[in-house]
Amino acid sequence: MKFYRLTPEQRRQILITEGIKLEDIDQHILERLDKLSENVVGQLRLPLGVVQNLCVNGKKYWVPMAVEEPSVVAAANHGANIFAKNGGVQSNSKRQGIYGQIVLKVDEYFSLVDLEKEFPELIDDANQKFASLIRHGGGTRKITANQKDDLVYLKVLVDPAEAMGANKTNSILEFLGAKLENFAGVEEKLFAILSNYPSQLTTARVELDPKTVGGQKVAKRVALLSKIGWDNPYRAVTNNKGIMNGVDAVLLATGNDYRAIESATAVLASQDGQYRSLSKWTMKDNKLIGTLTLPMAIGVVGGSIKARHDVQQSFSILGNKITSKDLSEIIVSTGLANNLAALLAISTVGIQAGHMKLQARNVVAELDANDKEKQLVLDKMVTEKNYSESHAQELLQKLREEK
Ligand code: MEV
Repeated sequence: MKFYRLTPEQRRQILITEGIKLEDIDQHILERLDKLSENVVGQLRLPLGVVQNLCVNGKKYWVPMAVEEPSVVAAANHGANIFAKNGGVQSNSKRQGIYGQIVLKVDEYFSLVDLEKEFPELIDDANQKFASLIRHGGGTRKITANQKDDLVYLKVLVDPAEAMGANKTNSILEFLGAKLENFAGVEEKLFAILSNYPSQLTTARVELDPKTVGGQKVAKRVALLSKIGWDNPYRAVTNNKGIMNGVDAVLLATGNDYRAIESATAVLASQDGQYRSLSKWTMKDNKLIGTLTLPMAIGVVGGSIKARHDVQQSFSILGNKITSKDLSEIIVSTGLANNLAALLAISTVGIQAGHMKLQARNVVAELDANDKEKQLVLDKMVTEKNYSESHAQELLQKLREEK
């Protein structure tokens, strides 16, 4: 039988007979996961952390973050605390829809002008066929087209309402693509699929009193670092990685497609031909102003969101009535919080001090020691600012000798 047709237990047995070490897993969980994905043999878990007090548009949120790096959650909390002292984040979203693309190969009898006359009817047809999307507040909104030689590029804007909308958009595009194949002069439809081009843009903005970030000098340094990120791709990509630390962690926790956001974000960062920082920090009227705009093709329903208990837990943390607009604004605000914390760290003491202190917990967790010994070793590592594995071993040995 084909591997993918086997039960997850049968697949596990095959791997085990090849000497692969698999983690034990509860049978119920394994069966549930098998319904979510393909060739399932186990699960990969991540710690779920929270931001305690992210204030967005006057509302306070607990924000779930799924990430293995402690400093990412710590940074988001640090940034969010500073934002809270300054009245929180102001955020807004333009959730007009996501793009789809249909490309047609045409001959000399094709007329773009005639095709454009069909667009209102095509939109009506799509909205009748996919009426449930209309009932949820979405629908096919707009079609535009341009021609280059014998290829016609159609851009279709689909409002997916509260979902990310990838599946629905692909179904709509395939439906429209099949209709377009019958149009005069169309030789064939080359493809019909959604485009991950940046859409559903969300902006977060903060105005900070320099006193809350360590004073004028630090605030000016953050603005200078931001300018360097604008001018220099080597810095820009690292700045943006710091933003995505926060963004991806919330996307993962809420069952959203982080790959789609990552690829769209790279386009946004290089829209004028040079790769640049996605965030901007400037000094104005003695305030440090931070802004960040990101493409947020995300949803609060659809995909595996309902089927995953871990993701439902995240929505409960966020407050169950959350909309896709709220979630977009929370995600971009978290990205801005992570970004500020990173800029503050690198413009003052550097990131390693905080980073290594947090990583020390991982080093200590691996020691063959009891909880009390682990805590004593950790305390000593922090006081001595030495976080290496070998030092942890030495401290443990010393501790036992002293007993
Ligand atoms: C590390 O994960 C992220 C940072 O490098 C981001 C930055 O430099 O802005 C600290």
